[in-house]
Amino acid sequence: MVGDSIETANRDVTTMAIDKKQVEKSVKEWFTKTANYEWRRLQQDPYHQIEFFVTKYFLEKYLPKKGLILDAGGGPGRYTIELAKKGYDIVLFDLVPEMLELAERRIRSAEVSRKVRKIIQGSIEDLSVFDDEAFDAALCLGAPLCHLLTEEQREKAAVELVRVVRKGAPVFVSVISRIGLLRSILVQFPHEMKYAKHHWEVGDYIPGLQGEGFTAAHWFMPEELQTLFEKQGTEILELAGLEGLSSHHEKKTNKLYKDKEKWKLWTEILLETCTHPSVVGSSEHFLLVCKK
Ligand SMILES: C[S@@+](CC[C@H](N)C(=O)[O-])C[C@H]1O[C@@H](n2cnc3c(N)ncnc32)[C@H](O)[C@@H]1O
Repeated sequence: MVGDSIETANRDVTTMAIDKKQVEKSVKEWFTKTANYEWRRLQQDPYHQIEFFVTKYFLEKYLPKKGLILDAGGGPGRYTIELAKKGYDIVLFDLVPEMLELAERRIRSAEVSRKVRKIIQGSIEDLSVFDDEAFDAALCLGAPLCHLLTEEQREKAAVELVRVVRKGAPVFVSVISRIGLLRSILVQFPHEMKYAKHHWEVGDYIPGLQGEGFTAAHWFMPEELQTLFEKQGTEILELAGLEGLSSHHEKKTNKLYKDKEKWKLWTEILLETCTHPSVVGSSEHFLLVCKK
């Protein structure tokens, strides 16, 4: 299908019932082959470290001082290990067995196995292995929610993430931005410009129909994510752009890092501006924090 006209590609997708099993298979295959990259992703350079740094800022702001945390779609365990080191008890949950095997090795070498209570394979759509109100917080970071292609599935996942935390507990969800994605097309994938209108209007990416560079994904608008969690009766505490004003300026950001004084000032600016509505949606990723 690559190379088809936009009209043809759009019509195919909008008339096609999304095959959930096929999507899950493609997501599993993608994350199986990218498990090692996923471990490096948030640490690979200063630009990518910003996502980790800004997310950690909000975790520190809203997590209770101690407790049991669900890291849903936690992949190779960056946040699991980070929070285990801070003394939290964690349950790590992910769709992809290879991610969890890698996480297990990383958890062992970080010497935090004692704090990681369980490692469980499954989809965020179905957290029925956990009781209601079992956790003091839930994380769903780095866009696991984006890999559920139907609204019904995303709604189920939101219901589940909220169900498993106790009343008053925070839920942290980060996703790929639909507007940010359009900028990524300009900067990284100009050869896929013919699909830009489809991404904007439909918000879904099906590999083979709109290019080949990623696995099946849904791109979010900030108000869409906000509504999804408001519908679960939560109070929205924050929406924040995770790469913020650095978003899509990878080279310039990495260069600035070499000047420690300027870097310090820039990271202060990033934190001060990341919640401004003009920054949230234009970031590659954005974070929602809500309270049950
Ligand atoms: C980009 S990685 C993020 C990993 C980690 N949370 C982080 O931020 O470093 C996305 C993760 O979501 C997982 N994932 C995708 N769809 C999922 C689903 N339906 N249920 C659970 N995990 C899922 C993938 O296996 C992958 O580990």
